[in-house]
Amino acid sequence: MISHDTIEEIRNRLDIVDVISDFVSLKKSGGNYKALSPFVNEKTPSFFVVPAKGIFKDFSSGKGGDAITFVMEHEKFSYTEALRYLAKKYGVEIREDRLSDESKAIQSEREGLYILMNFAKEFYRKQLTGSEEGISIGLSYFRERGFNDRTIEKFELGYALEGWENFSKEAMASGYNKEVLEKTGLVVKKEDGSTYDRFRGRVIFPVHNISGKVIAFGARMLGKDKNQPKYINSPETEIYHKGDVLYGLYQGKNAIRQQDVCYLVEGYTDVISMHQADVQNVVASSGTALTENQIKLIRRFTENITVLFDGDSAGVKAALRGIDMILKGGLNVRVLLFPDNEDPDSYSRKVGTSEFQKFLKENAQDFVSFKAGLYAKESSDPIKRAESIKEIVTSIAQIPDPVKRSVYIQETSSLLKIQENVLLIELNKILIQDKRKTEKDKFRQSDETQIPVEPIVEVAPTKVDPQTMVERQEQETIRLLLNYADQSVDEQSLSDFVLRELDDVEFLNPVYRQIYDAFKKGVDEGNIPDSSYFIHQGSEEIKNAVTGLVTHRYDTSRHWSDKYHIYFPKEKDIVNQLAFSNVLRLKFRVVQKMLEDNLQKVKQAESEGAWDDLDAALTTQTGLKEAEQELAKLLGIVIAR
Ligand code: CTP
Ligand code: MN
Repeated sequence: MISHDTIEEIRNRLDIVDVISDFVSLKKSGGNYKALSPFVNEKTPSFFVVPAKGIFKDFSSGKGGDAITFVMEHEKFSYTEALRYLAKKYGVEIREDRLSDESKAIQSEREGLYILMNFAKEFYRKQLTGSEEGISIGLSYFRERGFNDRTIEKFELGYALEGWENFSKEAMASGYNKEVLEKTGLVVKKEDGSTYDRFRGRVIFPVHNISGKVIAFGARMLGKDKNQPKYINSPETEIYHKGDVLYGLYQGKNAIRQQDVCYLVEGYTDVISMHQADVQNVVASSGTALTENQIKLIRRFTENITVLFDGDSAGVKAALRGIDMILKGGLNVRVLLFPDNEDPDSYSRKVGTSEFQKFLKENAQDFVSFKAGLYAKESSDPIKRAESIKEIVTSIAQIPDPVKRSVYIQETSSLLKIQENVLLIELNKILIQDKRKTEKDKFRQSDETQIPVEPIVEVAPTKVDPQTMVERQEQETIRLLLNYADQSVDEQSLSDFVLRELDDVEFLNPVYRQIYDAFKKGVDEGNIPDSSYFIHQGSEEIKNAVTGLVTHRYDTSRHWSDKYHIYFPKEKDIVNQLAFSNVLRLKFRVVQKMLEDNLQKVKQAESEGAWDDLDAALTTQTGLKEAEQELAKLLGIVIAR
């Protein structure tokens, strides 16, 4: 634990304006400062800093607090990480207390490893530019790959000379003991107890943790010796767990937050080449399959990941695995496929910076159309087609948010021309299976065999076009008005009741709208029109519609009661219920139409990568879904959740 005194000292030394200025460009405004919110996208400043009180307030996001809070919020640091950051910035020495001797020892051992890794990094850097071998072999290799000095600096690239003991000798001469050398994995111990340097005659890529400390190295061979691995990497150590690290995150995190999207690539050189092309919001998982923790790391900075990969089949397979992981992590994923035999590195160098940036912007696809495209070639074979549908739905099933899930189901339905309920059945199967599995895992200890599983109901919404469904209900409203305007409903006339209930509804069908508006006007003026008014005054279309609606096509009841002795109430006796259910149904259909319209916005925002719009549209979608549920409940209809 960082000692109380240390925290006090940090608080005393820091200046909130200075702290925040490292991240936000503040403008003076009276005694205070203001700026555009660093937490949300906005056009008018709503972010304020009050130096006199040592606080900030962001009215857009609602965030506020002191300088430490700001660093935590902005950098997604824990309290301790924020304190360490500020201590470093203001040169405050950190003293810890209340640590047991054991944890003190662990702490200082880790510190020792960091220090040695830093020493090694500096050692390799010096050799890259300060030795003949480093310059002629290492530096010239980086130059060949198009890396300039700034990039080499930014990534702290280095070179390890040929030879078995260059590094160990230097490190031991500087006072590091053999044990620590082994613990960092920088030297390898042989059976006879002797040791040798792990990295020799290779260019060095340091791997940084999120706060910029070097925790591992990747070393690439030069030339083409088939008997040697292309990369030699640091082993797992106390400070390096490769599943918890993303290459490039330290250098790219600000850009990731600003652009609100993170590009995911395969290797070290892809990350670096993209920086060379001025695309900095990029990370690599470095030769391992993406892990849950890596996704959580990205999530601290953005909810949007675009996976970039080369079009060979190994690349596609890896990307597919990654997609499901990302979806499961609750993030939005898009996919970008490079042309044959190109990867981000080769392609950016081939086409140049601006062309490359344009390519990134224009070619990202959402995962459904990507997967659909993959299987499109095989879509004439019904078995293959079924498999591909299953593939896509399996991905969709990973998404934790049911609203997003249903959006993707609808998209898949229209893209693959498959009925939505077919997809929903498939989705339900997978969801139930997964649920069973997690329940089983949960119950495994208690040795439960019978596991109750609640079905997850995602019933398909009707597939008639929503506009038509709205118009059908409009027609029914008009029919009721024409036939029963002055009958009493809820202690008022039906026309009053309907007009009040539908106050905020715009009729879509132009003919029904005109009739409805005439009723509105009539009710206002105390002179309610009837069918003969429309038949005599109205346009041809109105006449036609009205005539149809006042003619009773609904007289089936006689037939039923005669033939089967089933008694049907006369319509005029149940006008009350008819009016109630009609206004509910109309609203229900209107909401469904809005859902459909909003879905288009979701799709568009997504295809354009307009993440803020997407966010807004998804919020609307959630609200509308709730309204739909609510109305459905009143109507006694079961619909998709
Ligand atoms: N990798 C590894 N060991 C290997 C090959 C690859 O650890 N033997 C990891 C590295 O992290 C590498 C990534 O997988 O960055 C992607 O591999 P590859 O595309 O072969 O390497 P690049 O870094 O792109 O190198 P280059 O472009 O120079 O071939
Ligand atoms: Mn490569």
